[in-house]
Amino acid sequence: MRHASVSRKPARFLCAFLLLVWLALLTGCWLDGPQSTFDVKGPVARAQLNVFMVTVYVTAFIFVVVGSVLAFATLKFKARTTADDQAEPPPQSHGNFLVEIGLVSASVLCLVIIAIPTLRNIWFTYDVPEEQRTGAYEITATGYQWWFRFEYPGEQINGVGPLVTGNELVIPAGRPVRINLRTVDVIHSFWVPKLAGKVDMIPNRANHLWLRADEPGYFHGQCAEFCGDSHAIMRFRVIALPATEFAAWLANQEQPARVVSPAAASASGDRPHAVFASLKTSGGGAGDALSGSPEFDANPYAAWRERQVADPAHENPALIAEGRRLFQEKTCIACHTIRGHEGVGVTGPDLTHVGARTTIAAGVLENTPARMHDWIADPNHFKPGNKMYNGGYTDPESGQRLVNLNDTEVNALVAYLQSLK
Ligand code: CUA
Repeated sequence: MRHASVSRKPARFLCAFLLLVWLALLTGCWLDGPQSTFDVKGPVARAQLNVFMVTVYVTAFIFVVVGSVLAFATLKFKARTTADDQAEPPPQSHGNFLVEIGLVSASVLCLVIIAIPTLRNIWFTYDVPEEQRTGAYEITATGYQWWFRFEYPGEQINGVGPLVTGNELVIPAGRPVRINLRTVDVIHSFWVPKLAGKVDMIPNRANHLWLRADEPGYFHGQCAEFCGDSHAIMRFRVIALPATEFAAWLANQEQPARVVSPAAASASGDRPHAVFASLKTSGGGAGDALSGSPEFDANPYAAWRERQVADPAHENPALIAEGRRLFQEKTCIACHTIRGHEGVGVTGPDLTHVGARTTIAAGVLENTPARMHDWIADPNHFKPGNKMYNGGYTDPESGQRLVNLNDTEVNALVAYLQSLK
């Protein structure tokens, strides 16, 4: 009797656990997050979800059948009295051909049911389908510890090379996008849960994937392969735009960095990003909460569109000019490119249009002046081990400070970088 009461504890625990899982699934509370693979927004992620669900249904069926047989046998044949307990075991048989062949056939059938969609989707997700290939757009994504560089081989800038951005991948909605996957250091993995993934970025190996966003939208991406200290916060964003807005975005990105002077400020409305100007709803910009502000989290796509628009009325040309000078003096130029201005470095993200991004520090912080100030003042606090701090501000060997920035200088740098729309 004591044995029976002890053995019931794990069963009760299991029941409670399954009940919790069932309640969670019922309320959908785990299924609609920004990185949910259940809330798919493109054909590749949808194919992957379908394979997953087929596997779930087949294994759930096996679970129910095996569990029912086990429960039936346990209840029907258990010893109920002391006499039962001490009785001789019944005559033993040695196998049953029909049962064995039936179980083998059922197992094979279950595997075939899983194998058909799996194999079909391995081919489907590998590359853009033949009939869609002519309309496909090509992008090269490169992993760095711990951020992403995005290159547009189809958009060549005279005398410079292909257009390059960082951490926010802008793509045309409704169009297949083939993404070449590269890395400069260790293995990373490219994953946009709602669109496609994951495929590793492996040194000396030319991997690729493809994806398509059904509709315009704002999607979260994440490195999905352990790659060092800040792997868990190596994030990025994907912004899918309608065709005309994508063309306007490209045209603006291809321009050299914006110059802010009292005269130039009034002329900035002529730039292609004027397409987004009608979307501007307030001069204040997004809030300054520690992660994303509530307004930003509620509608990041709208926030992204608002950030494309320069706001000359709230800019201080003198402070911006001072920031541009400091960007050079404090050696930021050694690691970052600001095309058309001084920077030429390629170790860190291209910052030519950093003011038009919604996030900084590879998707970790919302791109507001206050957050950017915190990031520049103490990058190691937000992204441990990053190169801006380790080797940029401090000597990794001695720990000695190489670059000192006081509060006024950081403010000037922030004003400059925020002006780069
Ligand atoms: Cu890059 Cu994990």
